[in-house]
Amino acid sequence: MAKSALITGVSGQDGAYLARLLIDKGYRVSGLLARRSSDTLWRLRELGILDAVACIDGDLSDISSIRRALDASGAEEVYNLAAQSFVATSWQQPLLTAQITGVGALNVLEAIRLTDSGARFYQASTSEMFGLIQRERQDEVTPFHPRSPYGVAKLFAHWSTVNYRESFGMHASSGILFNHESPLRGIEFVTRKVSDGAARIKLGKQKELRLGNIDAKRDWGFAGDYVEAMWLMLQQDKPDDYVIATGTTTTVRDMCRIAFEHVGLRYEEHVVVDPKFFRPAEVEVLLGNPSKAKAKLGWQPKTGLNELMRMMVDADLRRVGRE
Ligand code: NAP
Ligand code: GDD
Repeated sequence: MAKSALITGVSGQDGAYLARLLIDKGYRVSGLLARRSSDTLWRLRELGILDAVACIDGDLSDISSIRRALDASGAEEVYNLAAQSFVATSWQQPLLTAQITGVGALNVLEAIRLTDSGARFYQASTSEMFGLIQRERQDEVTPFHPRSPYGVAKLFAHWSTVNYRESFGMHASSGILFNHESPLRGIEFVTRKVSDGAARIKLGKQKELRLGNIDAKRDWGFAGDYVEAMWLMLQQDKPDDYVIATGTTTTVRDMCRIAFEHVGLRYEEHVVVDPKFFRPAEVEVLLGNPSKAKAKLGWQPKTGLNELMRMMVDADLRRVGRE
């Protein structure tokens, strides 16, 4: 019998890559889909899996819709990827972020508990919870200090996951994932803004690219590698928490250099720092230590930042060229 999985946030970057991974493994995949007036299925279409995912209407703020999705999918594994995931927006919409990114995760946990389905649960936790970092390299025992309403909401979801594991013996795992990117990344995130900007400037459609704090450092990996870790966590006998990262950190500035050099341009001639994109409280640097994931899951990243940025710029050159 094929295993069955339910993915919340199936229309997002990670949802699409995870759906493809699970379909390739022979799973029946259902996705909770919040109704929007615009097309949110472009990623599933781009990966060629739209027809293979059973989309179920629902919203993370509506526990009855989550319960219906659990029943309809018969899910043995539930991956909670849905969130208001853009950090900058979380200062504009802190309450919505708390409701969806924080309480939404608790709604999924509670729905699984109430339906008594025994489904395994994955929570999309984040390095943003480390925020004002307390250790040079962050691992599973590094204390948290979130710096945004998004980070605070994710911390609530993270501890709710730990709590349901400890209170009810639920197979609930939390993946503390560092930044991961891809050609399917939302345009508002900095790597995609840069790959799209470099492509547009190269093709003469744009002259400059306005960014915020280009001295911030991130531990960037490839989303396609990271969804494999999510699946591995739910295949373990015991639930646990894992840091998923590359173990190297790079400034936004150097990431720009890689992207622009790929199309034969100098980022210094096109990138303009605009304080409009500064954040009320910044996470200056993130650097993960994925040793536990390597030792226990046998997981390690396969794609470096140079390859990742080249892949993203090439995809945007094709997209912009088609416009
Ligand atoms: P994403 O592209 O922004 O996808 C978020 C998904 O959540 C979208 O499918 C979105 O649907 C859905 N969603 C938003 N509000 C919802 C609601 N009220 N009910 C149901 N669905 C809702 O994010 P991602 O990059 O794939 O990340 C996946 C998860 O991992 C997120 O929880 C994110 O916070 C977390 N995370 C990401 C990273 C990273 O670097 N990518 C790192 C650590 C953790 P619409 O498209 O219809 O809005
Ligand atoms: N988005 C954006 N736009 N970020 C910029 C810009 C800009 O124009 N200029 C500089 N940055 C800096 C941000 O200030 C931040 O320090 C860094 O680039 C990365 O920003 P994002 O790409 O927006 O990602 P993030 O680190 O805030 O959040 C992402 O990673 C988290 C994991 O650490 C998101 O995917 C979160 O959902 C995820 O949890």
